[in-house]
Parts: sequence; structure tokens; C-alpha cells
Amino acid sequence: MTTVRSDNARANDARANDVRADKDRVIIFDTTLRDGEQSPGATMTHDEKLEVAELLDDMGVDVIEAGFPIASEGDFAAVHEIATRAKNSVICGLARAGQKDIDRCGEAIKPARRGRIHTFISTSPVHMKWKLQMEPAKVYEMVIAQVTRARNYTDDVEWSSEDGTRTEMDFLCRCVEAAIKAGATTINIPDTVGYSVPEEYFELFRTVRERVPNSDKARFSVHCHDDLGMAVANSLAGVRAGARQIECTINGIGERAGNTALEEVVMAMRVRNDKLPFWNGVDATMLTRASKLVSAATSFPVQYNKAIVGRNAFAHESGIHQDGMLKNAQTYEIMTPESVGVKQTSLVMGKHSGRHAFIHKLEDLGYKLAGNQLEDAFTRFKALADRKKHVYDEDIEALVDEEIATAQDRMKLVSLTVIAGTHGPQRATMKLAVDGAVMIEECEGNGPVDATFNCIKAMIPHEATLELYQVHAVTEGTDAQAEVSVRLSENGKAVTARGADPDTLVASAKAYLGALNKLMVKRQRGKPEAMVAP
Ligand code: KIV
Ligand code: ZN
Repeated sequence: MTTVRSDNARANDARANDVRADKDRVIIFDTTLRDGEQSPGATMTHDEKLEVAELLDDMGVDVIEAGFPIASEGDFAAVHEIATRAKNSVICGLARAGQKDIDRCGEAIKPARRGRIHTFISTSPVHMKWKLQMEPAKVYEMVIAQVTRARNYTDDVEWSSEDGTRTEMDFLCRCVEAAIKAGATTINIPDTVGYSVPEEYFELFRTVRERVPNSDKARFSVHCHDDLGMAVANSLAGVRAGARQIECTINGIGERAGNTALEEVVMAMRVRNDKLPFWNGVDATMLTRASKLVSAATSFPVQYNKAIVGRNAFAHESGIHQDGMLKNAQTYEIMTPESVGVKQTSLVMGKHSGRHAFIHKLEDLGYKLAGNQLEDAFTRFKALADRKKHVYDEDIEALVDEEIATAQDRMKLVSLTVIAGTHGPQRATMKLAVDGAVMIEECEGNGPVDATFNCIKAMIPHEATLELYQVHAVTEGTDAQAEVSVRLSENGKAVTARGADPDTLVASAKAYLGALNKLMVKRQRGKPEAMVAP
């Protein structure tokens, strides 16, 4: 079906292109690799972080918050390497108020063409009393000290008042004024606990900007969590009140209920430019690709009805809607799928497709693979095409995403045979390669999945608990690939991984092994100790 762009969207885009005044430009600050990665189960490997950062850099994100350098060697290395590689974006690292945090962050962003230190401290009564165990006067002193120290490393310093929306207005204004005086160029006032409502957040920015005498010397920034489902609405309210930076994540991943979703604010400003007359530099046609990449890297599935990037976001099921769409797409579409990079699924690949066509298809889908990764992906594509009559784009995406996610895995599935049926017990025989050495095990279980997982547990003993086991079909039909998500947790650390295969049990084994591999990476990473008064 061909779709036509809605008049509204076209008019708004034209308006946005015509009158793009600098004062209306909103900086897009992506924190997928910091606040997003911080959420339980969303761990990414070093290479996955590099890949996500490269895509964000290409798609026009202004600032990439690449990590929290003091948190671990891994975080430091990721920020440092992303800072070395980035071509366009400002690369930012997070630091608490302590000297060690700031120095480590300064080191990590050093190679960046443009580097930023984002330093924060809590300013709300509840956080100061219980978390920091500090008097407001001490916190105020630390605001000045942290910004001053950060300025030794870069001119681009952002200061955040953690739990800003529950901070007393007088104290907030004093801290903001002091931070700007000490050299902060961006002031971020987060709704850390996702408690605010749009009118209130609007009022907060209006008041702070009005009352702080040097407020015109800094850019104001919004940072919202989605605990009450209002992160996007709150962020846009802050922008209407004069903030010109939005902190957000791809797919809205983040602590607890997540952060403001990047794709939603970008498209809201574009599609409703009549009501939100602001613009940003993000190439919206890369949004779908970014969503898929982050979902694959974190193994967090994107909810089907997620705005902009959910698989149902442009699907029309009911007869009345389909009829309307056939007559004119404007009846039920406020933006075209193409405007956010959704490609119509195509059925062009099969067992006769060669390497050239495969590489071309990968490029079309936005992947850049080379060397062994490309060879492995091609071999797996051929194997899939032998077993599955029609290979859809979604199949290739699932296959490549898995290839990227498992490239560095220490434990890999070699083979699996399962005997299942009405007469139990079900029995599985599995071969695994662990650091290159092949192991074999045979186990029974209460069902074929249980037997499969028991084999893994027998070969790799561990205490992790299975928190989630979810199966869905990548495409339609009985020969569709199954995509399995598994979430494991151990000592309060959770990881999620996915596996895809036409055989649901093989997909299950791959997902479980993927999660175990991630857990190994996570075991090597600690958490920074909580900062309290000395
Ligand atoms: O939510 C929050 O307050 C944060 C700060 C560190 C900016 O993520
Ligand atoms: Zn946050």
C-alpha cells in the first residue's frame, strides 16, 4: 500500500525548515549508554556501546552521555573510546561531586573533539538528609567546588540538581546561580523520581529562569523519568518554559519506568511543530534503526504498541481502519512510516541469494559488518535460508542482531537434540563450546525447555534465577523464527538476552547462554560506593 504524507506533517516540516531560528533549537542529549544502561538487565558489552554511540553520532544526536567513568574500568574504557571515535557529537561523562569522580571523568573525555563533564549532586531535603547525610550549606559548597574542578578539564560543564523537582525553590535557585557563577554552561533540573506533572515542571523552569540573576548565561535542560508515564509531556513542558536541551534515551529505557523516549520528543516536535515550534538536528529516518539496535544490544524487547518504533505503530488491523487507509492514508496516519525509517518488509532473500545480495541487504537495513562477523552472519543466513522458505527483513535483522550480541561470548551452543512429546520425562542432549573447549551433557526435565536449561546448568553451574522467559515469532507462519528473551538475576544484578532460531528450543538455549555470558561481564563490574558526608 502506498501512503501519502499528511498535510499537517508536511506543513509542519516545511515550517520547521523555513524558520529554524537558533533560539528554537533543542539540543538532544542522549543518555542511553548511561541512564539507560543503568536500568536492571540492560547491560551492554563494550562493543555494543561503541556501535550504539556510532549510530547516535551519525544520526545527529548533539550530546552522547557515554557512561559514568568512576563506576568501573569498563565504563571508563567505553567513555574513553567513544570520545576517541566520535565525529560530530559532544561526548559526555557523568561524575558525582567528589574530586576523584571528576578527575576520572576528565581523563575519560580527554580524547574527545568536544567533551563535556556532567556533574550532579542531590538538592532535595529527602536526598540531602538520607542519601548524602549533608547539611544544605555543605551541599551548596560542593556545588561550587564540583563545577570549579570540572572546569579545569573542559569549558563544557553541565551541573544537575538531582531530585530537582522535590527541591525547595529558594535553595534550588541559590544552587543554580552558584553553579553558573562557577562556570556551568548547562543547568539540568531532573525529575529524578518521575513525580512531576507538566504544568508544575513548566512553572519550575519559568520561575528558576526568572529568579536566578545569571540564568541567561546557561542553557537549561530537562531530564525526566517516566514513573507516572509523563516523562515526554514533562520534557516538552520544560522546553515550552525555555529549556533548550532534552535528556532522553532510545526506546525510553532507563532507571525504573525509564527516561524520556528520544524518538517521541523528536517526532512530537516535528509532527506538531504548530504547537511545539522547536527543532532539533536528529535525522528521524534513523529512529527505527536506532530502536532496533538498542533493543538488540540490551535484549530489551520494544513493546508492540510503543509510540513511533513499536511494531504496531503503523499497523492497521480493524476493517474500518484498513478501509480508510486504502482510500487515504491521512485518515489514520499522522506521520508516514518512512519518516521514521520503517521500510516495508520485503521478501527478496532466499537460498539462492549470494554474498553480494546479502551485503547489499545488510546495508539497506543499516548494518555495517566486516571480516569474521560478516562471514559468520552470511553462513548463518545460508543455513536459515535452507530451512526457511521465505527469509524476511525481520529474519535477517534477528540473525545479525544475535551475531553482534554474541560475537564475544565465551559460551556458545554447538548442538542440541531434544526428545519431547506426551510421554515424559523430556530429555535434552547438548554440546557447548566454553572458551573453545567442547563439553557434552544429557539431562531430563519437566518439559523440553526445562531439560534444555538443565543441560546448561549441569555444564555451567550457577546460582542465577530465571526471572523471565518469553517467546515470540519474528514473522508470521509456522516456519517463522522464534525469538526468545531470557532474564537472569544474581545478587541483585539482572541481565536480559535474546536468541533467535526457527527451533524454539534452540532459540531458548541461545537466549539462556546469552544471559549467562552477560552475567559474566556484569560480575566483573562493581558499583561505585554511595557518596555520603565524610
Ligand atoms: O535522574 C537523575 O536525576 C539523573 C541525574 C544523574 C542527572 O540521572
Ligand atoms: Zn536519570
